Amino acid sequence: MGGPGHQPDGGAGGEQPPAVADRVTAAGVTAETEAGPTEWQVGTEVGVGPWPGGPSAWPDDAQYDRQLLADGDRRNVVDRYRYWRREAIVADLDTRRHPFHVAIENLGYDYNIGTIVRTANAFAAAAVHIVGRRRWNRRGAMVTDRYQHLHHHDAVAGLVDFAAGAGLSIIGVDNLPGSVPLETARLPAKALLLFGSESEGLSAPAVAGCAQLVHISQYGSTRSINAGVAAGIAMHAWIRQHAEPADGR
Ligand SMILES: C[S@@+](CC[C@H](N)C(=O)[O-])C[C@H]1O[C@@H](n2cnc3c(N)ncnc32)[C@H](O)[C@@H]1O
Repeated sequence: MGGPGHQPDGGAGGEQPPAVADRVTAAGVTAETEAGPTEWQVGTEVGVGPWPGGPSAWPDDAQYDRQLLADGDRRNVVDRYRYWRREAIVADLDTRRHPFHVAIENLGYDYNIGTIVRTANAFAAAAVHIVGRRRWNRRGAMVTDRYQHLHHHDAVAGLVDFAAGAGLSIIGVDNLPGSVPLETARLPAKALLLFGSESEGLSAPAVAGCAQLVHISQYGSTRSINAGVAAGIAMHAWIRQHAEPADGR
């Protein structure tokens, strides 16, 4: 049995982590073209083994990576992308990403950012923006950062400029005075969902840059929920308003 959908059949070596390589886009935004040290193996039973039959049986379409065909594909990708080159996966995602963006203030090396990047990838967000500290904890991203457009802004002002240039409305997500319930809010299709840091919440400059504030209704005793969880809820609220149910995996 072989090809996309082929079931696991044993271990194989993982890729070496690539170096971070940033580039500055025409808009003056720093975009990460390579991800950090996250291409570690999830486990020995994940993915597919070598494409059966040897090189003569391999597909020769441009999206296929001959090394993956030879060695097997143990990456954390859906079956339709098995054996695909990373660049081919990103290019395919680019044809069907949603128009919403996600941003988080990184004031203290926030461990939630990896979770947020992974969820943004799952929901095909256009891009994720890190505001503040450049370095972030990639472990929770589970390698999804390699397939997600990531931008860094030193300060909120850079994010606000980006949003204005891209025609995006910044929607601050936090349980702050003046916020309206997410459950009944109408989110714009071209939304940039902005989350605060786990320790401090949305900063004053971030709040000032928002067109609207929304909060997730809570009913218990805790003041707030985890920022990564809040981001997942808010992204899914956008999906429910603007996207069709996905066709399987
Ligand atoms: C731990 S909270 C921070 C502080 C929060 N404003 C407070 O009063 O304690 C971290 C981030 O998670 C998100 N968050 C947590 N609970 C939320 C809620 N109920 N509604 C919307 N966002 C929430 C926000 O983005 C927030 O900036």
